[in-house]
Amino acid sequence: MTYRIAPSILSANFARLGEEVDNVLKSGADIVHFDVMDNHYVPNLTIGPLVCEALRKHGVTAPIDVHLMVKPVDRIVPDFAKAGATYITFHPEASEHIDRSIGLIREAGCKPGLVFNPATPLDVLEWTLDKLDMVLLMSVNPGFGGQKFIPHVLDKARQVRKMIEARGLNVSLEIDGGVGPANIREVAQAGVDTFVAGSAVFGAGKDGDPHRYDSIIASLRAELAKV
Ligand code: DX5
Ligand code: ZN
Repeated sequence: MTYRIAPSILSANFARLGEEVDNVLKSGADIVHFDVMDNHYVPNLTIGPLVCEALRKHGVTAPIDVHLMVKPVDRIVPDFAKAGATYITFHPEASEHIDRSIGLIREAGCKPGLVFNPATPLDVLEWTLDKLDMVLLMSVNPGFGGQKFIPHVLDKARQVRKMIEARGLNVSLEIDGGVGPANIREVAQAGVDTFVAGSAVFGAGKDGDPHRYDSIIASLRAELAKV
């Protein structure tokens, strides 16, 4: 299994975002996790396509994993595609027509994914899994960084991994919320291959130090090497 580390820029220093993203990628991160919140689907407000485009213009070439916590979904999809998103994931309860939203993301040239909140059942995967590039399991309730990992999500991860394997699909299984060096190994053992970590990564080291993320990324990788 190839493991990927996806720092969530929600916990980055936004006054120096380009530099923060450069530093975290230089320290060995694989993907930029980009949290979009609308103060409607979730009780917080963050960043939109302009910021995604700015990161591309800044020279970021790594995959950008746009996690939409917005309702409705479809209107904003083409804007993010134009802004350089790689993955676009959305919450099924935020879209009236899930299959249509998945299709829109694919047609726009991006990789679609579905996101499941801790208490949201996985039933829609029955009819969507083969159309997806990513399944994202929330291990906290969406809206804020720095929350505690909800352990029952490990059972969900095992279920999704089973479904992916049973169908012989090449779909990434990502987890988001409360992940750090203390639990990443257990999460990987449950079948997850892509790990979002916000506060654990961006809270590390001393602000302004270009190497501040080296040791946290290395310790996440060291834990993954033990799986
Ligand atoms: C929460 C966001 C997460 C958040 C994770 O709604 O989707 O990506 O940044 O933060 P941590 O890793 O601090 O739990
Ligand atoms: Zn997220």
